[in-house]
Amino acid sequence: MDKLVIFSGNSNPKLAERISKDLNVKQGKIYSSNFSDGEIRVKIEENVRGKDVFIIQSTCPPVNENLMELLVILDALRRASAARITAVIPYFAYARQDRKDQPRVPITAKLVANLLTVAGAGRVLTLDLHAGQVQGFFDIPLDHLYAIDVFFQYFTKINMKDLVIVSPDVGGIKMARGYAKKFSADLAIVDKRRNTPESTEVMHILGEVRGKNVLLVDDIIATGSSLVEAAKALKEAGAKKICAAITHGVLSNSAVEKLDKSHIDFLAITDSIPLSEEKKSKKIKVVSVGGLFADAIKRIHFEQSISVLFDSIRR
Ligand code: R5P
Repeated sequence: MDKLVIFSGNSNPKLAERISKDLNVKQGKIYSSNFSDGEIRVKIEENVRGKDVFIIQSTCPPVNENLMELLVILDALRRASAARITAVIPYFAYARQDRKDQPRVPITAKLVANLLTVAGAGRVLTLDLHAGQVQGFFDIPLDHLYAIDVFFQYFTKINMKDLVIVSPDVGGIKMARGYAKKFSADLAIVDKRRNTPESTEVMHILGEVRGKNVLLVDDIIATGSSLVEAAKALKEAGAKKICAAITHGVLSNSAVEKLDKSHIDFLAITDSIPLSEEKKSKKIKVVSVGGLFADAIKRIHFEQSISVLFDSIRR
């Protein structure tokens, strides 16, 4: 393990600490600050020549600041002659901009993949990408982890009976199907229409939810609109307890306020994005993906297969 070095950017130091602790590896020293005009200034403060380097940085809000910090750290590591550089991106931003769905719009997810590669990433390790096909935007190896087992462990302790797994939109069917299989539960789908980036409307519910306990599963909660509207429709359709498991808690704008007033009993998110003090709520529980990332990093370092980490979600 003496060739393995873990660095952390400023986006999620707690998760990086947890990963290093699990691996029993001391974090590499890095200096990162801003020049007076806001430009990012970093310096790798130890020798990384010939090392297998993992840089942990979620591209969560402030998205562009965190992305840029990751890019300059990659550039510094590459110029410092690291043998291999893995960008560990627990939350990969811009993944929802993955196709040209209107005239004259960018495919920003592809642009970000290009930027990471040009900056120096030799491989990428990430979690629950918004769309699996974003993997194909990279011409370098990408290992894709799933939070399903971490959520499964959490929810089996709660032991929800008569369970139905619900996807809050048609795009999430694959993910929800994986959860339904894992939890040996029924599956239902909310047919949602997004009117603006901030608001959604439920059209229909496909599947039986009356008298059942619901677990809504999704990759991202941003404004909370998809989740809260889905919960309202599910309650009206006769659902009993409504919980949610959503990997990335972006929780932008008034998402927490909406959640607190909603029909959701509670929401479990992961620590792919740190939960700030002002976003804490009795309804939000955080489960850690630190152990999952530590396992994956160890396996990558020793050139072992990592597919055992997501055997339960062959999609
Ligand atoms: C959409 O396709 C995603 O899977 C999420 O459902 C969506 O990004 C959530 O956004 P919001 O919380 O703003 O409704």
